[in-house]
Amino acid sequence: MTSDANPRFFDLVGNVRAMRRLKPDPVPRDLLFKVLEAGVQAPSGMNTQPWSFVVLEEPESKAWFAERYKAAIESRFGVLQVPEDDSKAARQGRALRYQIDHLHEFPVLLLVAGKRDWPFKVPPEERVGQAPPNYGAVYPCVQNILLACRAVGLGAALTTMHQVFEDELHERFGIPEDYGVVVTMPIGYPMGRFGPVTRRPAREITYFESWGRLES
Ligand SMILES: Cc1cc2nc3c(=O)[nH]c(=O)nc-3n(C[C@H](O)[C@H](O)[C@H](O)COP(=O)(O)O)c2cc1C
Repeated sequence: MTSDANPRFFDLVGNVRAMRRLKPDPVPRDLLFKVLEAGVQAPSGMNTQPWSFVVLEEPESKAWFAERYKAAIESRFGVLQVPEDDSKAARQGRALRYQIDHLHEFPVLLLVAGKRDWPFKVPPEERVGQAPPNYGAVYPCVQNILLACRAVGLGAALTTMHQVFEDELHERFGIPEDYGVVVTMPIGYPMGRFGPVTRRPAREITYFESWGRLES
């Protein structure tokens, strides 16, 4: 490693689980801006920085969001049935259940919006209706926020079910039409412990010169 390498990064990056059980304790504003500042350090095409944030902290706003979030999940997946055992799926299910039932109590619901922009591969003559938000540009910002939350001891999770009621979301919070909400991140101090993520090793899904050819 070079002298300015930071090996601690590699511990941190493998330790950013979706934290779905959060305490209601408030997140100090300075700390919130610290993680958002990390978010906006992300790259974007031609440095357009097409992201904006809407922070929900008021109880009525969070209750409004939480009610629709729960209804959105149930409209797609039904009422979440969680097995009682100690399997990973059951534990994840219980965490999801907790998130759904307590979303309104979490201190911050962060909406990350992205400016709408047609991908290059869609030719102008095929552009109908609104462009999608520029997901590719916004996700690096989102990942920076997840990493920064972990670095300062905050828990966060990336959620996307707001898509089901996005029109209402725009109206309620005055989000302009030329932005789409990419993710909603509940942020707060975690109830449980941070821990390592479970992922397939890069060596198993990295091919050299031709698909399927693993490192020799
Ligand atoms: C595009 C995307 C959408 C996701 N949507 C949700 C979601 O709606 N709700 C949620 O709790 N987690 C969501 N997640 C988080 C994943 O469920 C989580 O990263 C995955 O299950 C692995 O768990 P871990 O990160 O805790 O290891 C999403 C992640 C991504 C990248």
